[in-house]
Amino acid sequence: MKCLSPSILAADYGRLAEEIKLVDEAGAQYIHIDVMDGAFVPNITIGAPVVADLRKYTDKILDVHLMVEEPDRFVEDFVQAGADIITVHAEACKHLDRTIVHIKEQGVLAGVALNPATPISVITHVLEMVDMVLVMSVNPGFGGQRFIPYTLDKIVDLRRVLGERGLKLDIQIDGGVTLDNIDEVLDAGANIIVAGSSVFSGDAAANVEKFLEHMK
Ligand code: DX5
Ligand code: ZN
Repeated sequence: MKCLSPSILAADYGRLAEEIKLVDEAGAQYIHIDVMDGAFVPNITIGAPVVADLRKYTDKILDVHLMVEEPDRFVEDFVQAGADIITVHAEACKHLDRTIVHIKEQGVLAGVALNPATPISVITHVLEMVDMVLVMSVNPGFGGQRFIPYTLDKIVDLRRVLGERGLKLDIQIDGGVTLDNIDEVLDAGANIIVAGSSVFSGDAAANVEKFLEHMK
């Protein structure tokens, strides 16, 4: 199934609940929440208490993207806050297998993210354990960056590997996705589409509807 996950990184943080309501009512299936620690990425955003408050305003899938070092430390906090999916970066985990097991034990979905330059071979042995792979199409840390084209090849390769192994995982793409490249991204094999600035700049509800048109 193809789903849109608007990234609230590009929303107005002073009106987060309203912004989430807009994209929720326009039909977005997920809400993407970027958690940054100022160490794994050069930026700081929000923590679990904010997610807990946002949980009251939407029943959509809360898709929490942890861009933090050693994310194991925060898994319980985000589960208690109401996260439905917790995605960790392979590059940020000393013991990726253990972290994935930890997330699954909490009863939520587990995602593993790869920076643009990280090869998919890094996660070969954990593919059976996760529900989603997030392929970063920009270097994480900021919204509004330009899409890195070679990441399309990674998606094609990953979809092929998953097919060969009979795995039906979701492939999420995150960074620089716009109405101009969405078709290429879908053709490559991504099915969970994160979009930040291209949703929240201008009329967010209308933008969601336009994205969803491409995803039928
Ligand atoms: C980047 C974040 C993305 C970001 C995407 O580090 O993980 O989720 O919000 O924003 P756009 O769509 O503007 O590139
Ligand atoms: Zn993200």
